[in-house]
Amino acid sequence: MEHCFLGLQAGCADHCDPIGELLTVHCSLCTVHCSLFYNLAMRVTVGVSGGIAAYKAAELVRALQRQALEVHVVMTAAACRFVQPLTFSSLTGNRVITSLWDDAAGGAGDTAAEQNGIEHIGEAQWAEALVVAPATANVLAKFAHGIADDFLTTMYLATTAPVLVAPAMNVNMWNHPATQANVEMLRQRGVRVVEPGTGDLACGMVGTGRMAEPDAIADAVLRALGRRHDMAGEVVLVTAGGTREALDPVRFLGNRSSGKMGYALAEAAQSRGAKVILVSGPTALHPPAHCELMKVITADEMREAVLKRMAEATMVVKAAAVADYRPVAVSAQKLKRTGPMTLELAPTEDILAEVVRRRRPGQLIVGFAAETNDSMANGRAKLAAKGADAIVVNDVTADGVGIEAETNAATFLTATTSIELAEMPKRQLADRILDEILALRRPRPLMVEMDEDDDLKSRQDRVLGDAVLPARRQLIVE
Ligand SMILES: Cc1cc2nc3c(=O)[nH]c(=O)nc-3n(C[C@H](O)[C@H](O)[C@H](O)COP(=O)(O)O)c2cc1C
Repeated sequence: MEHCFLGLQAGCADHCDPIGELLTVHCSLCTVHCSLFYNLAMRVTVGVSGGIAAYKAAELVRALQRQALEVHVVMTAAACRFVQPLTFSSLTGNRVITSLWDDAAGGAGDTAAEQNGIEHIGEAQWAEALVVAPATANVLAKFAHGIADDFLTTMYLATTAPVLVAPAMNVNMWNHPATQANVEMLRQRGVRVVEPGTGDLACGMVGTGRMAEPDAIADAVLRALGRRHDMAGEVVLVTAGGTREALDPVRFLGNRSSGKMGYALAEAAQSRGAKVILVSGPTALHPPAHCELMKVITADEMREAVLKRMAEATMVVKAAAVADYRPVAVSAQKLKRTGPMTLELAPTEDILAEVVRRRRPGQLIVGFAAETNDSMANGRAKLAAKGADAIVVNDVTADGVGIEAETNAATFLTATTSIELAEMPKRQLADRILDEILALRRPRPLMVEMDEDDDLKSRQDRVLGDAVLPARRQLIVE
C-alpha cells in the first residue's frame, strides 16, 4: 500500500514505485486504480504492414507521441522489407515485434501473458487501441477472414481494444471488389477505417489508395480513445511547484507546494494537443512526457524563465507557489545557533503582475491564489490588482484538499463570473480549469432585455459599451 501513488488498492504496492514510474506498464491494478496519475499515458500499438507507405508510419509514431501516448510497434515480415525495425525501436525506445516466434517472446515482457511467452496476448491486452498504417490489401483480407498467421493478425483477433486501419495501395487493388468487400466487412464489425486519399500514387497511377496523412490518422486514434484534442495549436506555459530562497548553503525558505496541480495542468494541456512549457520549482514528480521542462529553484529564476519564454505562449497558467519574500542576506557559511535571530526579508518580484504588463494581444493569463482566509475577497482583490484574465482560488485550509493533496477544489474567478469547481482529483480539475480558460476565448451570448419596438441598432447601443469585447460586439451584430 505504501508504494501505491494513490494508495487505493492493495496489490498495487508490488508494482508501483513511489512516483508511479512503472504503473502504466506493469500493473493492471494500477492502471485501473491509479488512472489519475499525471504521467499515465494511454497505450497504442501501431501495426505496420508491407506497403510503400510504411515509411510514413514513422511520422505516425511521432504524431502519437506528441499526444503523450505510449507507442509500441508491430511489423509484418513484408513491412520489414520496406523499413528497418530499428527506425521504430529508436523512435519508441521499445523493442519492435516482428514475429510470433521471436526469441525475446520467451519471458522478456512484463505482463503475465508475455512472461509465459504468449506475447501476442500480452500486447493485445496492453493496447488501448490498435492502428494499422499502412494497412495492405493482404492485411485487410486476413483481418476480415480471421486468418492469424503472424503476430499482427493474431494480435488483431486477440484484442478487444478499438482497431483502426489506414489502407494504402494501388488504386485498382483498392477498388477491387474483394478489397471493398473486406473493408465493408471490417466496418460492419466496428473497425474504424481512416479513408485513403485520392491523387498521385507511388505506383505511378492516379486515383484512390494513398494513405491518409499521419496527423489525420493520429486524430482518428485520439477520437477512438475518447481523448479530447481541443488545444492543438496552443502553447501553454505552466508554472508549478514551490520556490526556495536560500538562507545559507543548506537552508532555505520554502513552502509545502508539491507541484501536483501544475503538473496535472501540464499533462492535461499536453494530452489535449497543446505544446507545453513547464517551468517547475523543485518537486518529486516526473514531468509529463514530451513537455519542455525548465527547472528553477528561486523566485528570481522562475521570473527569468517565465519572461524568457512567455512570448511564445498563447496561455500562461501560473500555478506555482512563488515565494513572496527572500532573505536580504544569504550567509556564505552554514548559520550556527547563537541565540535568537531576526531575519530581514525583502519582497520578491511580482511575476504575475509583470507577465500581465508584458502580455501580447490575445494571450490569456491565469493566476492561482492559495488562500487561508477570506478566499473569495482575496481572490477578487488579486484579480483586480494583477489584471489577469482569471484567478483560480483555492482554500488551502480545507481538509484533504489543496497543497500536497491528491484532490483539490477551486473557484475560477473572472471579472464577471465565479465558477465553483467542487472537490475532485487534481488531474480532473486540471481539465476543468482548461475548459474554463478555453471558454474565455469564446464569445458569450449576452442576455438582452428587449422591448417590442426595439430595433437591433438601439438594442446594441444599449447593451454594448466600450468595455465590451469586439468578439461580443460581433456576436450581436451577426
Ligand atoms: C514494391 C512493393 C510495393 C508494394 N506496395 C503495396 C502497397 O502499397 N499496398 C499493398 O496493399 N500491397 C503492397 N505490396 C504488396 C504487399 O507487400 C504484399 O501483398 C505482402 O504480402 C503484404 O504483406 P503484409 O500484409 O503481411 O505486410 C507491395 C509489394 C511490393 C513488392
